Amino acid sequence: MPKPRVYCTHPLFEEARQILDAKCDVEYWVGTERPPREEVLSHVRDKEGLVCLLTEKVNEELLRGAPNLRIAANVAVGFDNIDIEACTKRGVAATNTPGVLDETTADFAWALLLAVARRVSEGEALARSGNWRGWNLDQLCGADIWGKTLGVVGFGRIGRAVARRASGFQMKVIYSDAVRAAEDLERSLHAEFRDLNALLAEADFISLHVPLLPETRGLFDAPKFFRMKSTAFLINTSRGPVVDEAALVAALEGNKIAGAALDVYENEPFIHPGLKRHNVVLAPHLASASVETRTKMAVMAVNNVIALFSGQRPENILNPDILRKT
Ligand code: DGY
Repeated sequence: MPKPRVYCTHPLFEEARQILDAKCDVEYWVGTERPPREEVLSHVRDKEGLVCLLTEKVNEELLRGAPNLRIAANVAVGFDNIDIEACTKRGVAATNTPGVLDETTADFAWALLLAVARRVSEGEALARSGNWRGWNLDQLCGADIWGKTLGVVGFGRIGRAVARRASGFQMKVIYSDAVRAAEDLERSLHAEFRDLNALLAEADFISLHVPLLPETRGLFDAPKFFRMKSTAFLINTSRGPVVDEAALVAALEGNKIAGAALDVYENEPFIHPGLKRHNVVLAPHLASASVETRTKMAVMAVNNVIALFSGQRPENILNPDILRKT
C-alpha cells in the first residue's frame, strides 16, 4: 500500500517528523522564510494531507487546487486561517492544537504585562546604550502590578491560566466572556464576572484571550479605549484584528490609556508605525514559543494526520461532520 502523501509547510521538530515520516510520504518546506503562496499551492496539488502553520490560508483557492486533500492540520490553536466551511464542503478534515499551549501563552501574557508596566524594554535599552549615568530616584518609574485589578477578556483555557497567575500578585481578577463561567470555577480562580463595559472601566490591566471571529474582529475600538482608565494597559496575545490598531494608536497618542503590550497585529508581519512608542512593548507573535510547547503542537498536528489516515477520528477535528459523510 503506498503511504499517503503529505505536504508540510515547515520542517517541524525532529520528534514530530519521525512520527509523520513513519506513516506518510512527506515533502517538507525547508526554507528559512515562510513559503510563498505559489509554492504551497503547487506542492499541495497532488497531496492527501497538509500540515500548515497559521501563516498559510487554507481557503477555497487552495482546496480547489488540491482535489485529493483529506486533511489540513494546523500547527496552532487559532484557526482563523482556515475556511472551515469550505473544508467541510469538500470533505477535508481541519484540525488544530488546543490545550498544549495554554500555560506557555499565559506565561508570555504575563511577561508582556510585567514588561510594559515596569518599563523593562526601556530599561534594557538604557542599560545597553552606554548612556546610563547610575541610579536615580525618578528613573524609569513604571506602574505597580501587585494589588491592582486584572481584567481578562475571554475566559477560556488561556484566559483562565492568565487569571490563575494573578494570585501571586495579590490582584483582584475580573473577567468578561460571552458565557459566564461556573460558580466553582469563579471561586477557585477568585474571579468575578463583569460585562465588558464594566470591566473596561475597572481594570488596570486588560488581557485579551478571545478567538478571532466575525463578532470579535475590531472588538477593541475607539469607544472601548475611551471607557478604559487613562492609567490602564492593554495586553494582546490573542489575534491582532481583535484590536482596531488605528484606534489603539489614537488612544495612545491621546493618552487615553497608559500603554500596551502586543504579541499580535492586524496585518502581520506589518506593525503600525504608530505602535513603535516608548509605552508599547512589541513582540513578534511569540506567546507559545517555548521549545517544549511548539514541539507538542507539531506532534499533535501530525498525530491528527496519522489518525485520519488510519481510519480514526483525529482528536482535534474542527469539522466532525465530514466524518459522518464518509
Ligand atoms: C496559536 O496557536 O493560535 C498561536 O497564535 C500560535 O501558537
